[in-house]
Amino acid sequence: MNKLSIEKLNKSFDIVIDNIASDKSISHRCAMFSLLSDQPSYIKNYLRGEDTMDSLKIAEKLGATVEDDGEMIKITPPEFLREPNDILDCGNAGTGMRLYAGLLSGIEGSFVLTGDKYLRGRPMKRVVNPLRDIGAKIDGREDGNKAPLHIRGGKLKPFKYHSPIDSAQVKSALILAGIQSDEVSFYKEDLLSRDHTERMLNGMGADITTGEDGWIKINPLEGKLKPLNITVPTDPSSAFFFAVAAAIIPDSKVTLKNVTLNPTRIEAYKILKQMGAKVQFIETENVYEPLGDIIVESAQLNGVTVDKNIAWLIDELPALSIAMSIANGKSVVKNAEELRVKESDRISAVVNSLKLCGVDFLEEEDGYEINGNATLQKATIDSHGDHRIAMSFAIAGLVCGMEVEDTQCIETSFPNFNEILNSLKP
Ligand code: S3P
Repeated sequence: MNKLSIEKLNKSFDIVIDNIASDKSISHRCAMFSLLSDQPSYIKNYLRGEDTMDSLKIAEKLGATVEDDGEMIKITPPEFLREPNDILDCGNAGTGMRLYAGLLSGIEGSFVLTGDKYLRGRPMKRVVNPLRDIGAKIDGREDGNKAPLHIRGGKLKPFKYHSPIDSAQVKSALILAGIQSDEVSFYKEDLLSRDHTERMLNGMGADITTGEDGWIKINPLEGKLKPLNITVPTDPSSAFFFAVAAAIIPDSKVTLKNVTLNPTRIEAYKILKQMGAKVQFIETENVYEPLGDIIVESAQLNGVTVDKNIAWLIDELPALSIAMSIANGKSVVKNAEELRVKESDRISAVVNSLKLCGVDFLEEEDGYEINGNATLQKATIDSHGDHRIAMSFAIAGLVCGMEVEDTQCIETSFPNFNEILNSLKP
């Protein structure tokens, strides 16, 4: 159990950061989608975090060959995915477990997906039920709701499924199942969740289209897909910790390089802008999706109400709560019950940690209210094994000093977080 001691930063900063962790969502998908081709995929800037390295190890157990020269990862898929002779360990990654559940449901064989104690406590029925409905045989603890999950994959039926939750993991699991069926399937979510799966698979030659009525039409694959050839962009959710740092430390500025500017991923920056921070998006390229630089400068922040587009903010709300604590006036987060089933119960972890820092709040079932204008106080924070909680309170530590415990989880998504944090010091 590692620990981070953060000292108060007594000065402003103006930095350009070009080594923030690569995108976790896109990296997971690179490992998995490369298995759908018959040629090698080449991935530059693959995220070398624990979660995504676990996805890569699973690809190997399914028969892929992975060559890594330290810069480029080459993934050569097997002719047919093979039944592994061991369990498949997704570590801490909900994305790993849920997307592999969808992919493996359509493959003949027996597969066991497991993970660490936090992942084994997270709900899996959101993918298990719709996958069972189309013919996958899946079992697990609590009637299939908790891992370890056993999947006996095989032929899948086409489906028309309106998801009760807006979740990119559920959508991606069902898309991966749908492309393996013999007939067209349809999927709908009320708010478009992050759409890397659709963009990347279409870039590889799949045919997945979203109609004006919001139904996603998933055509079956006609043979193998083209390989991926991709430089994974910077992860906007990881970069956001330093956006908040620049917003709350007076006279500070940060330039975050080569970030994906996918509209489903940059909503938190827009909220920070709405709160008063100066935020600019500078698009430089468009490969699979738009990417470029984000510049954030400090300003007096004001409270904000966040009750829409929650799926676009789910990973950033803990860091936003630090900005909300310092902002003038009250901030409100609503309709965010999904926060309770992430790597930790993020509503409870956020408010209880803010309480230790002297922030006045009200906890609700689906969110919280934060009374701003707080003078943050140094505290000892438990990450609850959640990387986003650990890094959010490390950033708060720049204002008041902080001890953050159980920080091993930062390795899941942002292994050089502490190194970049230290580079802010004079
Ligand atoms: C992810 C989707 C999100 C997000 C997670 C990564 C993905 O979860 O929280 O960190 O890569 O698909 P949802 O399933 O709630 O959208």
